[in-house]
Amino acid sequence: MPQLTVEGFGAFEVPAGKRLVLALVDEAGVDQLHACGGNCRCTTCRVEFVSGEPDTMTEAEKNKLAERGLTGVRLSCQILCAHDMTVRAVSRLEGSGRPDPGSRPEAEIHPQPVVWVER
Ligand code: FES
Repeated sequence: MPQLTVEGFGAFEVPAGKRLVLALVDEAGVDQLHACGGNCRCTTCRVEFVSGEPDTMTEAEKNKLAERGLTGVRLSCQILCAHDMTVRAVSRLEGSGRPDPGSRPEAEIHPQPVVWVER
């Protein structure tokens, strides 16, 4: 099983292929924001990679990051835990002023169909 390390939280074994946003919540216990419910619309699921950043991304993620002018972050709702990764949780409920983190993302990546492109 891949290992997910979250700075300040620890290292956790996660099921291979699990959405990173869900692994952050379920395995790592991070109060990770995911305001749009994992649909690649809000960018609040963003994380910073320390190591293990995937070389591919969904076309939806690539387009959303470009649209928002975001660099140096990835959208955890668009990433699958396929190998060891170390990330910083930079978008948490704590300190956000939001009432909740957002509805729980589904198990499968959305939006469908998923198109993988180089990052
Ligand atoms: S972009 Fe909204 S949860 Fe990922």
